Amino acid sequence: MKIAVMGAMIEEITPLLDKFKEYKVVEFAQNQFYTLKYKNIDVTIAYSKIGKVNAALTASILINRFGAEKLLFSGVAGAIDKNLHIGDLIAAEGLVQHDLDITVFGHPYGFVPESKILIKADEKLLKIAREIAKTLNLTLKSGIIATGDQFICNGLKKEWIRKTFNANAIEMEGASVAFVCEALGVPFFILRAISDAADAKAGFDFDEFLQSSSKISADFILSMLDKIEE
Ligand code: ADE
Repeated sequence: MKIAVMGAMIEEITPLLDKFKEYKVVEFAQNQFYTLKYKNIDVTIAYSKIGKVNAALTASILINRFGAEKLLFSGVAGAIDKNLHIGDLIAAEGLVQHDLDITVFGHPYGFVPESKILIKADEKLLKIAREIAKTLNLTLKSGIIATGDQFICNGLKKEWIRKTFNANAIEMEGASVAFVCEALGVPFFILRAISDAADAKAGFDFDEFLQSSSKISADFILSMLDKIEE
């Protein structure tokens, strides 16, 4: 089985590389792809750099060049839901692009013709994640993750995204990875640990909690690799 594990920033994949220690580095498309064997799984790890375009490019490469049959994303997000706090884990049930706007032509926010607003994550991977959370006695929340090419640090904008998309958390890559995976028929799972509340102090909190929340997410993804392999 070939599985891709992807993050957006180096901090998001460092806990995984630290754990595996031995890997090959393959250069492709101005990026590095870390390949290794874990039990029976051929794992390719990469970080895309921030944003939807970078993430779509990396997800496409992980699937088309490295043959990923499943894609797991690990990283951090801003909380929209008041019940999500720094360090909490949220798995995407569905993902939307909050910055996609051709409403002037009568379309809803997040929609372009011949596409859809919400992409659903793979049910089987979500089920595995819920089982792991139960076994490890961890709380894994799930809901809608909103993606856009903006770091949200404003209460009004955050509230608009919550109301418009019923979103629980916000980040800058998930939905583009979801669109690529769905189009290419690859099951995907997007996990985020909360780094900030997308409010006025989000920039400060993000810097403070990027590393610790990245590790919380990466550790969970490692447990998923064990379970998927069984
Ligand atoms: N990733 C983590 N926090 C974020 C925020 N507040 N906005 C967008 N992406 C994020």
